[in-house]
Amino acid sequence: MDSGEVMLRPVRPADRERIEAICEKVWEGRDHVPHQLDSWLADPAATFQAAERNGEVAGIQRLLPVAPGIVLYHALRVAPEYRRQGVARSMLRQALMEARRLGFSEVRLYTGEPEAATLFRSEGFQELTDCVTWTGARLEGGELPELARPGDVQVLARLVESDPALAAYGGVTADWSGPLRPDADLLGKLIDEGLVRVGPGRRSLALLRRNWLPEMAVTFLAGTGSSLEELLYRLRAEADAQAVAACSLLAPQDHPAADTFQAVGYDRAHDEKHALIYSRGL
Ligand SMILES: CC(C)(COP(=O)(O)OP(=O)(O)OC[C@H]1O[C@@H](n2cnc3c(N)ncnc32)[C@H](O)[C@@H]1OP(=O)(O)O)[C@@H](O)C(=O)NCCC(=O)NCCS
Repeated sequence: MDSGEVMLRPVRPADRERIEAICEKVWEGRDHVPHQLDSWLADPAATFQAAERNGEVAGIQRLLPVAPGIVLYHALRVAPEYRRQGVARSMLRQALMEARRLGFSEVRLYTGEPEAATLFRSEGFQELTDCVTWTGARLEGGELPELARPGDVQVLARLVESDPALAAYGGVTADWSGPLRPDADLLGKLIDEGLVRVGPGRRSLALLRRNWLPEMAVTFLAGTGSSLEELLYRLRAEADAQAVAACSLLAPQDHPAADTFQAVGYDRAHDEKHALIYSRGL
């Protein structure tokens, strides 16, 4: 008999086949979860859970610490045959209790799915930002953008803090691996990973997303005027150098430089995919 109860336990290596089946149809087969199972199973810092119903894995979720006191809730998947039965809601509520027990004070998450967003809002999450996508087709042979250097951290942190874009982004990057405030600490880490591009005079900057897909996406953009224009052109040239079709900009519709995006050849994507970022205190 189906008790309806959802029991959480750690994901085990033996769950692989079942998880692959659950994720098979997610995002037309482009789900990243199956590709990350090995590293997630080996990561003691995160809480990677399977939800069992009637002794079968009905869903998965993961809590990943991303900053002091802040945990990212992600990789929520429910098997198609268990959907619309309250499984995700039960899993989420248990995850929030676990995050509280572990001493976190805030949970953040990123979703592109409006149905999932309804669930999160109904469980007390507040929207930090709603980003849409602009795409700039690759430009052959243009000059590449300049990489920020470790010595640039303070100048760039001041640029970010004084730019109205920060408020439009809800104070965080639109990054699915952890929406965080682009302060000196985060900028330093991203510079070390080679993910920060700057425009002339360091009067503009773009933060790139860590990516497992053959894509190039900007998760935070600040700056104005000719420096920003030049940076945006050069990002399109970098898309060509990286052999991808376009550079995508994730930015709120009311980004203060939205007119500049269009002026240098970035168009709003047709698919209307949103990057929705939520936060909830514990
Ligand atoms: C999104 C997902 C996790 C929901 O799982 P679920 O177990 O079916 O969700 P629940 O039954 O607990 O529903 C909780 C709430 O979510 C919303 N919701 C879930 N599926 C929905 C749908 N197909 N249409 C509209 N709202 C939906 C509803 O608000 C629902 O509350 P209600 O039933 O009281 O109206 C599941 O559909 C899934 O795995 N989708 C593919 C992967 C994905 O999108 N993951 C989320 C990425 S962050």
